[in-house]
Amino acid sequence: MNGRERMLAACRSQPVDRPPVWIMRQAGRYLPEYHDVRRGRTFWDILKSPELALEVAQQPLRRFDLDAAILFSDILVVLDAMGCEVDYEAGGPKLKNPYTGPSDLRRLTLSDVMANLGYVAEAMGRLCETVHPDLAVIGFAGAPLTLGAYFVNGGPKNHLRGLKALYYRDPEVAMELLDRLSEAAAELLLMQAKAGADIVQIFDSWAGYLNPEDYAELAVPPLRRMVDRVKSSGVPIILYIRGAASHLEAAALTGCDVLSIDSSISLGGARRRLDRPWALQGNLDPAELLGPPRRVAQRVRELIDEAGARGLIVNVGQGLTPDIPVEGVEAFVKAVHEV
Ligand code: CP3
Repeated sequence: MNGRERMLAACRSQPVDRPPVWIMRQAGRYLPEYHDVRRGRTFWDILKSPELALEVAQQPLRRFDLDAAILFSDILVVLDAMGCEVDYEAGGPKLKNPYTGPSDLRRLTLSDVMANLGYVAEAMGRLCETVHPDLAVIGFAGAPLTLGAYFVNGGPKNHLRGLKALYYRDPEVAMELLDRLSEAAAELLLMQAKAGADIVQIFDSWAGYLNPEDYAELAVPPLRRMVDRVKSSGVPIILYIRGAASHLEAAALTGCDVLSIDSSISLGGARRRLDRPWALQGNLDPAELLGPPRRVAQRVRELIDEAGARGLIVNVGQGLTPDIPVEGVEAFVKAVHEV
């Protein structure tokens, strides 16, 4: 099997010769060659240049024997396309004109989104031309909740404070906001599927900041509508939930094909909690990659033993950070090839 076949089979819980492996945030600042491209440029320069985005997406593929490539982009491009300029140079993303009141919802117009995101479709098309048919290409977007957290807070700090306040004081406005974001993010995924993506992933990085009741009421309905819209493409949908231990069963109600979990719950524990054999992705704590390669390999073997090789995409439980050593990543990928 090649990587693409392996990834697609795993998404559908079909038999595989070995579980596929890729890594969330596999391209980026832990790689010295990323810094070479980044030098003298802003992050936006890379995002908006299909050539540079292609180069950076390929960097991890040259080093590691991965089964999938992920588009080089960011979840916040959709907010930027809606007129909320995103500044990445301020030590974490910051919106220049975040939410100030209900009239701001009018700013979030769908037509602008698609007209302004042509560079994403182009980067996706080039990535597919370059790595198909050997590897699967993953497209992605942010979940409505996580995008809403950035829009209402206007920055990376105090993650859900602003959005929660809006929801408790004015639930209709909050739901309307998340619905608009859900529609825009769904369009972005459909655009990527049309440009050739084999699989799409929805990143809900801030889900863990909600209690289970609020997750069910605030996060799940817009996610469900988003998944419904994207289903028409026929492309498998992975839902990443950071804080999965609190939300696993509710996340399973969204209609996605694969649940991608962080290390708040074990893969075996997740399997036992779900009512049917789900395809799962995850979930080594990326901090483990700071340990010696022998230990990393041992942990990967344990993870696959526990989860079972079928319906499993080996990955980390959350994205790699700049401090992760390349040797740790190498040991992680190699261990999957050796099981
Ligand atoms: O390799 C890949 O996975 C593809 C690229 C990718 C990026 N962002 C590039 C990036 C992906 C899939 C994302 C998703 C993303 N972006 C998420 C969800 C995943 C997660 O890690 O929870 C979130 C919450 C964001 C928002 C975001 N963008 C943050 C919080 C930051 C700053 C901190 C950080 O992690 O770097 C960014 C900037 C960003 N996105 C960089 C990269 C390579 C760093 C840009 C730079 O300064 O060079």
